Amino acid sequence: MKKFYITLLIFCNCIGLMSQTERTIYLDKTQTISRRVEDLLNRMTLEEKVGQMNQFVGLEHIKAAQKNLTEEDLKNNTANAFYPGTKLSDIERWTKEGLIGSFLHVLTIEETNYLQSLAMQSRLKIPLIIGIDAIHGNANAPGNTVYPTNIGLACSFDTTMAYRIARQTAQEMRSMNLHWTFNPNVEVARDPRWGRVGETYGEDPYLVGLMGAVTTKGYQGNFGTDNVLACIKHFVGGSEPINGTNAAPADLSERTLREVFFPPFKAGVDAGGGSFMTAHNEVNGIPAHANEWLMEDVLRKEWGFKGFVVSDWMDIEHLYDVHHTASSVKEAFYQSIMAGMDMHMHGIFWNEYVCELVKEGRIPLSRINESVRRILYAKFQLGLFDNNPFCDPKQSAQIRLSAEHRKTALEAARNGIVLLTNNGILPLDETKYKKVMITGINADDQNILGDWSALQKDEDVITVLEGLRMIAGKTDITFVDQGWDPRNMDPAKVEEAARKAEEADINIVVAGEYMMRFRWTERTSGEDTDRSDINLVGLQNELIQKVKASGKPTIVVLISGRPLGVEWAAANADALINAWEPGMYGGQAIAEILYGKENPSAKLAVTIPRHAGQIQMIYNHKPSAYFHGYKGSSNEPLFPFGFGLSYTTFEYGDIQLDKTEIFKNETVKVNIPVTNTGSREGTEIVQLYLRDEYSSVTRPVKELVGFSRVKLAPGETQTVELTITPKQLGFLDKKMNWAIEPGIFKIMAGSSSRDEDLKVVKLKVTE
Ligand code: BGC
Repeated sequence: MKKFYITLLIFCNCIGLMSQTERTIYLDKTQTISRRVEDLLNRMTLEEKVGQMNQFVGLEHIKAAQKNLTEEDLKNNTANAFYPGTKLSDIERWTKEGLIGSFLHVLTIEETNYLQSLAMQSRLKIPLIIGIDAIHGNANAPGNTVYPTNIGLACSFDTTMAYRIARQTAQEMRSMNLHWTFNPNVEVARDPRWGRVGETYGEDPYLVGLMGAVTTKGYQGNFGTDNVLACIKHFVGGSEPINGTNAAPADLSERTLREVFFPPFKAGVDAGGGSFMTAHNEVNGIPAHANEWLMEDVLRKEWGFKGFVVSDWMDIEHLYDVHHTASSVKEAFYQSIMAGMDMHMHGIFWNEYVCELVKEGRIPLSRINESVRRILYAKFQLGLFDNNPFCDPKQSAQIRLSAEHRKTALEAARNGIVLLTNNGILPLDETKYKKVMITGINADDQNILGDWSALQKDEDVITVLEGLRMIAGKTDITFVDQGWDPRNMDPAKVEEAARKAEEADINIVVAGEYMMRFRWTERTSGEDTDRSDINLVGLQNELIQKVKASGKPTIVVLISGRPLGVEWAAANADALINAWEPGMYGGQAIAEILYGKENPSAKLAVTIPRHAGQIQMIYNHKPSAYFHGYKGSSNEPLFPFGFGLSYTTFEYGDIQLDKTEIFKNETVKVNIPVTNTGSREGTEIVQLYLRDEYSSVTRPVKELVGFSRVKLAPGETQTVELTITPKQLGFLDKKMNWAIEPGIFKIMAGSSSRDEDLKVVKLKVTE
């Protein structure tokens, strides 16, 4: 009997051990991620696998959209969604059945925790990965820190700041149980009619690449519990649409793709970026969502990308209903998966059709396994299986909008505001200008938060008017409200501002675009808000002109995501400031700059053309771009790339190279002496450009190859050392092979991309 019990005990233990081993491989933290992924994959049904590849919008988002939209409205709406005919309870049930792997547009902790609790009831308890467009802070969700948008951040040329913002954003997101941000957007912006310039880092591939890479690292870190997955987007070409509109075709040569558009995406891969999003548009005739060359040949084979690719909003479906390369939605799913797509944003038909495609033998199971492996890998990497699947609202409240994060938002706003003209009126003297009149659509509106932001609590946002009241408290401030809507301005209010201007000592017009998403169809800039001109909308120009006609000094401040062709203001206002979309402390930062509490330092990360007719207007154009030029109008932009004024002055000494002749595999050190010749401390952004003088294929007239932010006391000189690497000297030759051709290179350093702002020296490169 005793023997029997011992045998039984051993048997039971073995069963226990076996089932424990079986159960725990994918749940066992000590195993490698690859083993855990394989173990889990082996346990999954086809339906569960295909479910991991699908994403849904959040339940609250659906409820809100359902209330406000009709099915017809939905067709062209890429910000709101619901699934006609599907009940919320269906989505809840599918989540419990493990048939949904991811959600997006989930804005509260209550909901992230709730959705995760549903996934925890599923057979294999695979956690959800919840994504959100945390483009400049987790601003889409109320109650988070809102930093300047990417374009303003890029104008600071401050990569340390970009890293810090990404770290803080990740902490705020993770505290809300959000794991994946659809940023950085590393598109090289080459058309200001396109409404999304504000979410990019501007027009220069080198700057965009650096900003994207540090941002990726800031989000992902070592994939700790306060890191999130980055999404490098949108691959590729959407930032130079043939007609300036979002999702229009990109017709770009392979040379342009490889020289201009690819490098920032490659930098994202090199920085470890864990996911990629494809672009809405077709690229040279093949939609990005069905483009095997882009997803497989370039991204995976050439660059070694190991993460997963997610589609953009219903863009796989658009292979059928927009691009017409697929004759049905099911066919569209087939094309996209076979071209390399891993995850579908977002919708209800995916699971059914993709399972059918596998069962019909059209999509091999091995192809599905590849995608699921990549997605599960990311979930393990993020620690989703190993940590508490829920977050604690109390802890989250301590992290979000913390004093440190607010401080960063303020500093970033100060560093991203560009002073474009100043006839000496700035900084304002409070004792001289006692009566201030402020007006304009952006004078007292949360629109300073920018695109990709929800409305935030009023006490968390400082508008320009509030900033003035804080900083210039002793002055008598009159506010003439023009409403928020540039397209529906009231002429009587314009007249009122003109009258009040006469009574004031100084006038400030805060003009620009309207970007807030909650007024999706009424805004004038942002996603899907492209324009056929780049002028000020509505009566804004009249407002500026009439206020200036008062004879009193007039300052114009622009709040905008896109460059605006404000020729009149540039020539006539006493000062012009471009503050972009400066975030929650934008108003304070603007007031500090107006009153000289802060010295502006930002430089344009994008060229500002005079008008849309000049487009394409970029600083790194090819030599023949203006061979004949325009008749009767200027070939010059309104403001060039790299340009921005300070309240102090800087002088550049002669550039020194450590070698004036190098072999083509050598690096060269460039020393650039800069002196603060003014009377106050300031930060200068020193820029280094090069040009290959003669080459077998045409090269840009200049390319940015280095920069440095340097803070100088009055009278102080510092020598900035920057390095030019062989990689920066090379290009794709006639046969599309990478080559460095011997010859003379012009090395230029200075305060902007404009020739008159640059010192020049020659470098000889030999075989
Ligand atoms: C945008 C993406 C974004 C996605 C989810 C799309 O309309 O193009 O950039 O990540 O929506 O919000």
